[in-house]
Amino acid sequence: MPSVVVIGSQWGDEGKGKIVDYLAQKADAVVRYSGGSNAGHTVVVDNVAYKLRLLPSGILYHGKTCFLGNGVVINPGVVLKEIHDIKAQGVDISRILISDRAHVVLPYHARLDELQEAALGSAKIGTTKGGIGPCYMDKAARTGIRMCDLMDAETFAQKLRIQIDAKNELFTKIYGVEPLTYEEVLQEYLAYAEELRPYVTDTGAALAEVFQSGKSVLFEGAQATFLDIDHGTYPYVTSSNPTAGNAATGSGIGPRDIDHVVGVVKAYTTRVGEGPFVTELQDIDGPGHHLRETGHEYGTVTGRARRCGWLDAVMVKTAASLNSIDYLAITRLDILDNLPKIKMCVGYKYKGEEIKHIPASLKVLAEVEPIYEEFEGWMSDITGTRSYAELPLNARKYLERLKSVTGVEIGIVSVGAARQQTIVLKELL
Ligand code: GDP
Ligand code: IMO
Ligand code: MG
Repeated sequence: MPSVVVIGSQWGDEGKGKIVDYLAQKADAVVRYSGGSNAGHTVVVDNVAYKLRLLPSGILYHGKTCFLGNGVVINPGVVLKEIHDIKAQGVDISRILISDRAHVVLPYHARLDELQEAALGSAKIGTTKGGIGPCYMDKAARTGIRMCDLMDAETFAQKLRIQIDAKNELFTKIYGVEPLTYEEVLQEYLAYAEELRPYVTDTGAALAEVFQSGKSVLFEGAQATFLDIDHGTYPYVTSSNPTAGNAATGSGIGPRDIDHVVGVVKAYTTRVGEGPFVTELQDIDGPGHHLRETGHEYGTVTGRARRCGWLDAVMVKTAASLNSIDYLAITRLDILDNLPKIKMCVGYKYKGEEIKHIPASLKVLAEVEPIYEEFEGWMSDITGTRSYAELPLNARKYLERLKSVTGVEIGIVSVGAARQQTIVLKELL
């Protein structure tokens, strides 16, 4: 009956969806605990790619309970579309549970996200513009509207009135744009409420029952450690805590209920959106270009080109400490197949001196230089490899070095998007 948290160790898009889908074979429940539809998790099963934004990746199996915990912010239109689309693809949707404490993303949140980004100009965050930040702003300001409010037409109508009036003040007086129409939003959301009602419940209580009955639970992280509002490259972060500690708070379990933490690590680094990136490759025809094109590094949610760079083992080591990672899951190792030389950043230098920790100040971080080690590439196709021993020696040398820099065991190596393209070194469930 173990419980395992799967988190991103870099800036997102590490392949959390693929790893959760793989591990979910042996899990009874899968829980999303943070973020919202800013996440885009692609899971490939039998050559079909499923693009999930809010639904946990366990949804693709029959009979697993899929939770959207209290820490998630939910755009009803997005989640309902996801449910309809996935149902049309023949997936069982009867086991979805949505927290009555989760906050609801409303049209004014997305509108504010756009306006705030535009106002920042060249200092913009590069958000997914879905209103995730403004929804968490309302949550922290204690003016948010929760699923339990949406389920009660009278409460929702009252709370929405107050919020629309306040947001319209901002829209018209500060941003000089048209106000939103209360009645339109009200009717749209009351219709969503009826469709969502069968799924909405006290997920904390439901999850406690799952734990009590000795079942195994997977927690699916969204975003990643360096997008965490406390531990990431602030302000170029998301507005929630994707790190493993929030798996407890964001789902209503206690911290001692977590047995293992798997840190998903892409074999190189990518980032979508603005902000510092120590190992970024800005070439137009070198290894950075190779990684982007070979790896099809374009965002699932926004289609934006992802910035690419060498693997930063300092970040992974820091992520290991911040999340209590006990196993790494390395993904997309196959994308490095045709690179004759591969670099890994094993340390940071600032003003000529080696520094041990990632600086909080972005001004300092901008001046940090990576200390690289160079590896011989393996120059062969590893996508058919099914055991660690079968991997080319140079690939194993690269992985062993990551293990020694971070001090963390490798539990999984992924060599392709499909379920079977997964090498398991440690069974966790
Ligand atoms: P997530 O947000 O962390 O779930 O990651 P994304 O789904 O946004 O991006 C990861 C992409 O890599 C997806 O398209 C996956 O299907 C794909 N993927 C995952 N693991 C592997 C792998 O080992 N090799 C390859 N080539 N693709 C992978
Ligand atoms: P998954 O779960 C990669 C980034 C955005 C932006 C910043 C803030 O698929 O790994 P937001 O819309 O959250 O306010 O944007 O965070 N971002 C992600 N980048 N993967 C994600 O999710 C992300 N979710 C948010 O690009 O830089
Ligand atoms: Mg993604």
